[in-house]
Amino acid sequence: MKIKSMQELEVHRKKVLLRLDINSPIDPKTKKIVNDNRIRKSLPTLEYLIEQEAAVAIIAHQGDTLDYQNLIPLQEQAERLSELLGREVAYIDDVCGPAAQDAVRQLKPGELVILGNVRYLTEEVSSFENSVPLEAPEMTDTWIVRSLAPLFDAYINDAFAAAHRNAPSMVAFQEVLPSAAGSLFFDEVSALAKVMDAPPRPAVFLLGGAKISDAFGMMEQVLSNGSADTILTVGVTGLVFLLADGYSLGSGVDEFLKKRGLDAFIEPARKYLADYPDRIRYPEDLAYEGKDGSRAEISVDSDSLPQGLFPDIGSRTVKAYKAVIAEAGTIFVNGPAGVFEEPKWENGTRDLWRAIADAPGYSVVGGGDSVSATSRFTDPKKMSYICTAGGAMVRFLSGKRLPLIAAMERASEQEQAGTGPYAT
Ligand code: 3PG
Repeated sequence: MKIKSMQELEVHRKKVLLRLDINSPIDPKTKKIVNDNRIRKSLPTLEYLIEQEAAVAIIAHQGDTLDYQNLIPLQEQAERLSELLGREVAYIDDVCGPAAQDAVRQLKPGELVILGNVRYLTEEVSSFENSVPLEAPEMTDTWIVRSLAPLFDAYINDAFAAAHRNAPSMVAFQEVLPSAAGSLFFDEVSALAKVMDAPPRPAVFLLGGAKISDAFGMMEQVLSNGSADTILTVGVTGLVFLLADGYSLGSGVDEFLKKRGLDAFIEPARKYLADYPDRIRYPEDLAYEGKDGSRAEISVDSDSLPQGLFPDIGSRTVKAYKAVIAEAGTIFVNGPAGVFEEPKWENGTRDLWRAIADAPGYSVVGGGDSVSATSRFTDPKKMSYICTAGGAMVRFLSGKRLPLIAAMERASEQEQAGTGPYAT
């Protein structure tokens, strides 16, 4: 089903409600934004709406109630957007109460305002944090939709990074307002669809990091549907595959995995190795802290592996993986090779990231840590595409249906059938 683009929606001098994902990493001490990648990536849609002299109210989230450190108002985002756009983006510390409604009523063509952080509303988070299973049509009764929808002519969603959230601000306005998706939505979907459906071959997936449920969710799908020719495992994912293939990595690793419930992934890893023996690679050597505290490396075949942790891969693994990356037609990256924030353990991530940036293949980087590693170790422009999404990207590549995509498709169906907001 075709999803409508904002260029196909009547927005000239109209009042537009725009849902963005400008959720940004925050320094826990200063509460300042440390990376404005998502804010910058939202600019093309905003610039288009300014050109169209639309009156735009932005709704967005920052942090969530499970992580209070990042749950802050959107004032800073408004300031950053004002700087980047070279025009005032006002901030109203109210999501949909009288102050927000007044601000929207007074909004003139060409003006922009950001309303309060939607994550301060229980109804926005209950659907995923407390599993209150509301369908999009039922969400039209929520306070945010009842209060804001009557004030607007149209709704645009350019928040692909939150596409996995079945929240009213993401999926319910489509039920009551003519709607479309913004340009970042289409950029993200087409980069990921290319990796998934028609990747230039050979297609290599570098999967690592500590969130191994992400890596495993994706692995099942890209191995079984043939998207991945080779999977290079690093980080904790790499350790799990070593254990699955019968290596013993000592009590430090065993305890680390057990404490986090990650030992549950050893059995699935064993099954993948049995089903796809030629398509999954794991590290040949690992880095560890030597007696004097410095970095040391050891082969995984050694009889005298240390009992601690292995915060990075070793240089033989880097060399072998670099050779695969250099020949790849597509390289998809999610999850660093080690604890790259510490210089002692940065080698694996640094050298692989630089190799990917220099490789001729089509490269897609996704996930917060992988994007940070890209800016840290190489020029992000050398990657073919940097995805703003984390959780949404993983679910998309795992073959799961995303609530936002379902909502946008439903909007198109309603338009064709002349129902919902299109009923005459
Ligand atoms: C993200 O950071 O992945 C998106 O902004 C969605 O945030 P969430 O995982 O808190 O819903």
